[in-house]
Amino acid sequence: MVTLGIESTAHTFGIAIIDGKEILSNVTDSYTTEEGGMIPVKVALHHEEVYRKVLDVSLEKAGKTMEDITLIVYSNAPGLGHALRIGHAAAKSLSMKYDLPLVGVNHCIAHLEIANLVTDAADPVLLYASGANTQIIAYDEGKYRVFGETLDIGIGNFVDTFARNLGLGFPGGPKVEQLALNGSEFIELPYTVKGMDISFSGLETHTKRLIPQVQKEDLAFSVQEHVFAMLVEVAERAMAHIGKNELVLGGGVACNKRLQEMCKIMCSERNAKFFCPENQYLVDNAAMIAWTGQLMYEHGITREGINPYERTDEVAVTWRS
Ligand code: ATP
Ligand code: FE2
Repeated sequence: MVTLGIESTAHTFGIAIIDGKEILSNVTDSYTTEEGGMIPVKVALHHEEVYRKVLDVSLEKAGKTMEDITLIVYSNAPGLGHALRIGHAAAKSLSMKYDLPLVGVNHCIAHLEIANLVTDAADPVLLYASGANTQIIAYDEGKYRVFGETLDIGIGNFVDTFARNLGLGFPGGPKVEQLALNGSEFIELPYTVKGMDISFSGLETHTKRLIPQVQKEDLAFSVQEHVFAMLVEVAERAMAHIGKNELVLGGGVACNKRLQEMCKIMCSERNAKFFCPENQYLVDNAAMIAWTGQLMYEHGITREGINPYERTDEVAVTWRS
């Protein structure tokens, strides 16, 4: 089965081609700004503009033509309505033109399934840390359950807002990571863990006020130490509570080397295994969409339409026994 997957839930538009378990191409083009954040209409325009080029490059890299494709998959939830609609339209038109089945995939679940494919994790807890989402997820009785999550904004959106307040562009995560490397003084900041859940809005207000008063390198360093410790704490609590001894990372924020290091230390201290897919499978990508849709299709599932608000634990995971 040769599957073409389309990702378009947020700032990244991507198309990947996979053949069974082999990823033949995984091409993305992301909306960025030098100043300010994401404007949904502009994101959609970006996706529309790059669609044809991303499709051509992906097919070429895979050494395939549209005639070789046997299944079309796209991310249909959750995400920005404006952006989802572009991916859906592209997928639908390809499926009609080439008379191919169509499967809509939940993007958050795809972050987990790709980790199962590209790492040796068997039944892990996923620390999913992206722009819009921050969740601790694990499989239990027919669903990917959310054991802990942010009570307000996603960690990436928090880091991006912090970066914007510092006058840096979007996405801010990599810029804050660089700044933090030159920070040395630890500034105490709000640390909000509530059971298995976490919250960033208090920290957002607090850091905004501190920006003019302290060295920005020290603040970036301290922000990272706090928010990553919060993530590691809830991930560890979930692992202990549900008795799983594997941790995998997912989401763009998981590209951060300091977060990876802290997760690795936590896992080694509790004799658990730590897995981190390479960056191209952490950030939003279409390979994870293609792979998840293919799994679903092989188990008789097709889905259509878009659902900007679908939660991870609303999807019946009937493709996993
Ligand atoms: P989702 O729809 O799953 O919420 P997303 O649209 O936010 O995903 P991702 O590519 O998973 O997309 O994550 C993007 C986020 O990752 C941005 O907020 C960005 O700042 C952050 N990020 C990327 N690299 C790093 C890094 N090195 N350190 C911290 N954050 C990072
Ligand atoms: Fe994502």
